Amino acid sequence: MVAESLEQEVARIRRELHEHNHKYYVLSQPSVSDAEYDFLFQRLREIESSNPDLLSQDSPTQRVGAEPAKGSSQITHRIPMLSLDNAFSVDDLLGFYGRVTEKLDEPLELVAEPKLDGVAVSLFYLDGVLQYGATRGDGQTGEDITANVKTIRSIPLKLNGDHSPRELEVRGEIFMPKAVFEKLNLEAEAQGGKVLVNPRNAASGSLRQLDSRITASRQLSMNAYSIGTVSADVPLTKHFDGLGLLKEWGFHVNALIEVLAAKSSIASYVEHMSQARAGLGYEIDGLVFKVNSLQQQRELGFVARAPRWAIAYKFPAEEVSTLLESVEFQVGRTGAITPVARLKPVFVGGVTVSNATLHNMDEIKRLGIQVGDEVVVQRAGDVIPKIVRRAGSGDSPKPIRLPEQCPDCASPVERDGSIARCTGTLVCPAQLKESIKHFVSRKAFDIDGLGDKLVDQLVAKELVVKPSDIFDLTVPNLVLLERMGKKSAENLVAAIKSSKSISLSRFIYALGIREVGEATALTIAKAVTDVKGVFDLSAEQLEDLEDIGPIVAAHVVAFTSNQENLEQVESLLVKGVEPAPEKPTNSEGEAKLEGKSFVLTGTLPNYARDDLKALLIEAGGKVSGSVSSKTDFLVAGEKAGSKLTKAQQLGITILDEAQALALIQGL
Ligand code: IVH
Repeated sequence: MVAESLEQEVARIRRELHEHNHKYYVLSQPSVSDAEYDFLFQRLREIESSNPDLLSQDSPTQRVGAEPAKGSSQITHRIPMLSLDNAFSVDDLLGFYGRVTEKLDEPLELVAEPKLDGVAVSLFYLDGVLQYGATRGDGQTGEDITANVKTIRSIPLKLNGDHSPRELEVRGEIFMPKAVFEKLNLEAEAQGGKVLVNPRNAASGSLRQLDSRITASRQLSMNAYSIGTVSADVPLTKHFDGLGLLKEWGFHVNALIEVLAAKSSIASYVEHMSQARAGLGYEIDGLVFKVNSLQQQRELGFVARAPRWAIAYKFPAEEVSTLLESVEFQVGRTGAITPVARLKPVFVGGVTVSNATLHNMDEIKRLGIQVGDEVVVQRAGDVIPKIVRRAGSGDSPKPIRLPEQCPDCASPVERDGSIARCTGTLVCPAQLKESIKHFVSRKAFDIDGLGDKLVDQLVAKELVVKPSDIFDLTVPNLVLLERMGKKSAENLVAAIKSSKSISLSRFIYALGIREVGEATALTIAKAVTDVKGVFDLSAEQLEDLEDIGPIVAAHVVAFTSNQENLEQVESLLVKGVEPAPEKPTNSEGEAKLEGKSFVLTGTLPNYARDDLKALLIEAGGKVSGSVSSKTDFLVAGEKAGSKLTKAQQLGITILDEAQALALIQGL
């Protein structure tokens, strides 16, 4: 036998390790002992370190993680990663089935899948070798997480089999198995470290690590759930066949995925999976139903951000019962006093819950609860936990009473309908703290680095007694605060300075006028040219604006006719705050269609193409003549031709005239 060359040995060991890896992490059928695996791994590492030219990016040694990367970079998805419409009942699902069948000539087959609760990922392979991994991001571009993705054992660095497609984009969910989550939390607790909130946050936090060695230690896993794109050398007609190919290539595909040929199977799948859920080794928050035929998927197309050919069923909110230990009263920005339930910590809906809002005294009365009772707590998705009913009484229940004095400033509490309010507006530190938190929040002045804890300190130390004081903060007075280094103080002062250029609507929102949320602030901002204009609006003029009724108008006028408020606003302007008149913006406050690229095709029902084009450009969009992977939206009318086909192939969002107009109006 001829002795193996070093190159051959490296190739053989890699092949063997890839195989062992796949058997262990994907198939859960280990084929060698740990010692044998380690032996091969060490040998490979030795050869690679003394022969750097033999190193390759798909080597199993590349999974251990590396030193922190220099910041993060963005990756533009080849086809957008969309989200799914939601269904909350079997009826909703049957409605989906009906809508879809109506649009199709051929019989319908669905693929039903568990919806894993983790982080969506896109993986790109060229000639079978993993090139990059990216998060979903905004659907168009995501964050480059290649180094971290490589540490995940169930993600092949290299596809199995001899015939790899030229190009392949795989989509799936990265998640932390329940057992790993529990183990890591026990360890963290023992070492006094930070406990992870739930498996999904744990997975997303682990993936966002700059140091991939930390990611490697988190033992994440991935389920592949679809092929994003595959080059034409792999003909594919059904989604389910795609899943079969993914399995052959070495991906972990969920074993509970089923093809449903009959409508009646929908309800039984939901029933079966609802039962199975608790016993699974990973968290699922719902189920996904997809049209199996790719041809039918193309026929159905997309509406706005979601495909018409798929739907997500969300499990009903989980409920558990626990002890109501006490009720505290919190004072908000407008003085409203809200009872907050302190609960014996309980795990529900994927997180440990120890607080729940009770809204107001009427709610407490309606629930008929007392301190010491067993209460049922519900939490679904990212929704704030709430108490839904009383489950039983404790040994010595105590009635819950509204305090007569504000818990923060001892001013008298008054009742205003079902709301209780502290009357100490100007002297109440709690109200001040909350107003400042609102003033600097993301949708208002958006001052980075000025978090709740810092605001509490600034108010307690009387460095800030009104919002405009924020603009007088300096590095020397900030460094005196707890946990505030020179660098952070400098960054904060810079962030405060740059927040001075603000849109008029954010400025109005920041003022914290009662009942004036972002949408109302935007309506008012559009009606005037500057801040002074807001103070000049009469109640009648306000009521003439869309969606503003007499109550909101009265709150605005009460605010603007108050001399102190006028002085506060003038002082902000003197300090260099410059609210800019409103440009068309979306709900995030960004120029509405900034950076979005459109292509128009076909005959539109009401608009000439050039007119709609002008509107899109006015709203900040770009309009180009041909469809490419960079196109965000295709606006299609009657007799749309090749551009429509191409956009569908690229998975670009297709809009009709009405949807395009809605987008322009920020609806
Ligand atoms: S299909 C256009 N299938 O759920 C189709 N998504 O909004 C898009 N998810 O964060 C997704 N399991 O990452 C699909 N079997 C599954 C899934 C799944 C989990 C996640 C997905 C996204 C969200 C869908």
